[in-house]
Amino acid sequence: MDWSNLSFGYHPTHGNVRCCYQDGKWSAPVFNASTEITLHMAATCLHYGQEVFEGLKAYCGKDGKIRLFRVEENAKRMINSATYLKMEAPSQELFIEAVRMAVNANLDFVPPYEGGATLYIRPLLIGTSPQVGVKPASEFLFVVFVTPVGPYFKGGFQPVNVIIDRDHDRAAPLGTGHAKTGGNYAASLLSLDVSNQQGYATALYLDAREKKYVDECGPANFFGIKHNTYVTPKSHSILPSITNMSIMTLAEDMGLKVERRQVPVQELQTFEEAGECGTAAVITPIGKIFDPATDQTITYGDGKTAGAISTQLYNQLRAIQYGDAPDPHKWVTVLR
Ligand code: PLP
Ligand code: COI
Repeated sequence: MDWSNLSFGYHPTHGNVRCCYQDGKWSAPVFNASTEITLHMAATCLHYGQEVFEGLKAYCGKDGKIRLFRVEENAKRMINSATYLKMEAPSQELFIEAVRMAVNANLDFVPPYEGGATLYIRPLLIGTSPQVGVKPASEFLFVVFVTPVGPYFKGGFQPVNVIIDRDHDRAAPLGTGHAKTGGNYAASLLSLDVSNQQGYATALYLDAREKKYVDECGPANFFGIKHNTYVTPKSHSILPSITNMSIMTLAEDMGLKVERRQVPVQELQTFEEAGECGTAAVITPIGKIFDPATDQTITYGDGKTAGAISTQLYNQLRAIQYGDAPDPHKWVTVLR
């Protein structure tokens, strides 16, 4: 594999791990070499969107050890997402066992330490039994597949430009935004296309009710930094990011104040640095934010260089994930 030029995409591996929920219980996880799933045409995932997923990564350290980052949090979030969508979720133990099995079955696809690539792990849960009326399934399939990936945004740790989208919402105020379900991403595809066509890496969404406050970006949470304070939106319609939760702790460790609260759109221009954070995005600094409503562009620094605090947070997060720095909060599971 050409590890240093990998895209963030699907690359074939040896196989995946699956378990089924039937007759009120989960089967044991089993390795499966096929990339195909056979489904009933009336499966609830196809018609009524009973689908939730997760995203985490396995990192190969300088010491050759393979580490998972906060896998328990992904297991818990899948349970929360599934609960909202009336789905049965695998227990935390089953989730972690399936993730371990999927990585262990594909060790030669874990990218080496140098080069910026990682093994992306995608746990997927779908309703598989048929329903024609709007009702939840009684059977579910849980699959964990892995794929080696490069950076989500081309160039890795480099500022991207984003556009505020006032014409579309990815989630309703009391809807599914806090759950990691496909419908939120389906709702963002047109908006993403419009943003990309105008030359922006992604859209920045506002609160759907009033369009007054910042929600999050398409694939990642938003943060801003000013006066030694890390500020990130609090909203029911954004995904509770495990990366963001970790960065808030790292920011406090570094002596920054942390504020998780509503972020008015007008406050964007007061930040000294801004960025997006998530498993795929890691920390991606934001260079510029364009607001079509005012025709104004906010530029952070020179718009092309990552800010000092974002860089420090990025380096510390990566160091823990790769095992280059101590792990005081016990976030890392060494797989082998
Ligand atoms: N927000 C959205 C909409 C996402 O898809 C993701 C990615 O999972 C995140 C935020 C970041 O979450 P995490 O840090 O847990 O990957
Ligand atoms: C992630 O960061 O894991 C995501 O799921 C974001 C995107 C690829 C959907």
